[in-house]
Amino acid sequence: MMNSETNNSRFSSVYDCTIIELDKHHHEKGNITVVENNITIPFGTKRVYYLYDIPGGESRGAHAHKELSQLVIAASGSFDVILDDGKERKIFSLNRSYYGLYVPKGLWRQMENFSTNALALIVASTTYNAEDYIYDYEEFLKHK
Ligand code: TYD
Repeated sequence: MMNSETNNSRFSSVYDCTIIELDKHHHEKGNITVVENNITIPFGTKRVYYLYDIPGGESRGAHAHKELSQLVIAASGSFDVILDDGKERKIFSLNRSYYGLYVPKGLWRQMENFSTNALALIVASTTYNAEDYIYDYEEFLKHK
């Protein structure tokens, strides 16, 4: 079981972000990787979405969330996730289908350098709520 979630989005830091190696069931006919609530990830899942057909050179997700935590997986291809807690920045390059990047609530994130045919799978702790987004970086810094 993972350690429990960061509770307060004001105090989360880039050092709370970790690459979680998901279990990989190897089969001759292909592999299976599983994400399980509160076992492989420190939160329960309310929503899964994925980004695909991302045009070359495009960047996504310049925002923070007040309550949502997520796991980001390069299910196919590769891309970079840039995380910022208002003090420090950290870049994670994702390029394996069985690595998940745990991003706790309260961090500014941006995704870029998508390879052709990249598939970014996001496992999220909450359902969609437009109120949970912070799109303004200055507002994010005040929040922190
Ligand atoms: P957004 O999260 O801003 O995308 P990104 O950060 O990857 O650039 O979402 C883009 C649009 O999609 C936005 O208008 C809201 C909509 N959307 C939903 O309606 N439901 C969802 O679950 C998500 C993730 C986005």
